[in-house]
Amino acid sequence: MAPRQKAMAPVGKGAATKDTIGFGIIGCGVIAPFHAQSIQAAVGAEIVACCDVVEGKAKAFAGKHGIKHVYRDLDDMLKQDNLQAVCICTPSGLHAQNGVAAAQAGKHIMCEKPLDVTLPAIDALIAAADEYRVRLGGIFQRRTYPVSQAVRNAVRGGKLGKLVLGDCYQKLFRSHEYYASGDWRATWELDGGGALMNQGVHGIDLLLWIMGRVKRVSAYARHLVRNIPVEDTAVAILEYETGALGVIQGTTSVTPGEPTRWEFHGDEGTIILQEASITKWHCGEEKEPPEIGKVDSGAGGVSDPTAIGAGGHMMLIQDLVNAIHEGREPMIPGREARRAVELILAIYESERTGCPVDLPLC
Ligand SMILES: NC(=O)c1ccc[n+]([C@@H]2O[C@H](COP(=O)([O-])OP(=O)(O)OC[C@H]3O[C@@H](n4cnc5c(N)ncnc54)[C@H](O)[C@@H]3O)[C@@H](O)[C@H]2O)c1
Repeated sequence: MAPRQKAMAPVGKGAATKDTIGFGIIGCGVIAPFHAQSIQAAVGAEIVACCDVVEGKAKAFAGKHGIKHVYRDLDDMLKQDNLQAVCICTPSGLHAQNGVAAAQAGKHIMCEKPLDVTLPAIDALIAAADEYRVRLGGIFQRRTYPVSQAVRNAVRGGKLGKLVLGDCYQKLFRSHEYYASGDWRATWELDGGGALMNQGVHGIDLLLWIMGRVKRVSAYARHLVRNIPVEDTAVAILEYETGALGVIQGTTSVTPGEPTRWEFHGDEGTIILQEASITKWHCGEEKEPPEIGKVDSGAGGVSDPTAIGAGGHMMLIQDLVNAIHEGREPMIPGREARRAVELILAIYESERTGCPVDLPLC
């Protein structure tokens, strides 16, 4: 069943003023254009600079997006005038290192998922943002979709009755060429894992955001097809703090790849979400989902990581700009973005030890 949808108002953009937040983009690869496009669309934001250790990439990116100042070195970019914020778009295992440097220079931070790949690194980033009083926001674009918010409100508002099951199925395809497209991909050090830490982190974040915290997990995380050191396929059994149970399936090794699906069941109802559509809404007498705003969600990256739509990034970057002005936390504060990584690390520990793992991890 397709949800009834209404279009969202377009964002208007005026000329830069003294309050305009100047952004620098760190890392000019696949995801960076989504940030450039979002900053350019945001009210009260402009791109001032970009940097990449591969100078040619930074220059080409700057040319394409009309960015004036180009750097190879992050520390040099952080000295640039009119720079108040950065977008971190580097390999995942560099996020905290880049973010701590930015915080120490007094720059607000929008950090790509995952926040980093270890909890000590993430905690150092959160602590630096606190210490230097800068805003730290994480990217999980699926949280911004009106449909995700409607499901969360229904589940958290008790429309399903007592929660029984909360599941997430992420059966994706990534090619050999994808894994060969960057020497950081599928490495423990810089990608932090595979099908879960890179791709699955999106679905896991949404699952936790809707279902609440997990207290215990048992899991397998294996590489079944791809010749990579990290997992290409994982299955986890969850016990939530509420007592509800659930499963996560995540893979990047199936052909052709399926839309990501979440299933929420209670003793009084069921909601099934597939990408940005509700395919089942059965909440007591309610058999139709509420009217839900539309978002540019793309194809959800089922078989192509760039097929994701820019709507979520735009909303999160506009929100960071507003949060800076309003002196409040951004929509997805660093502490929130940490949760999915913690669960994924618990899944890896369960695979290593062959035992259930209790959360929170120490
Ligand atoms: N939100 C999403 O849906 C989404 C989608 C894709 C990627 N991502 C995330 O974005 C991040 C980047 O992924 P990508 O696919 O764009 O990778 P990529 O390899 O295409 O780009 C990373 C860029 O960072 C540069 N770089 C490396 N070290 C650097 C440093 N110290 N300083 C400056 N630049 C440096 C590289 O040269 C490269 O150009 C990852 O954390 C990934 O998980 C998020």
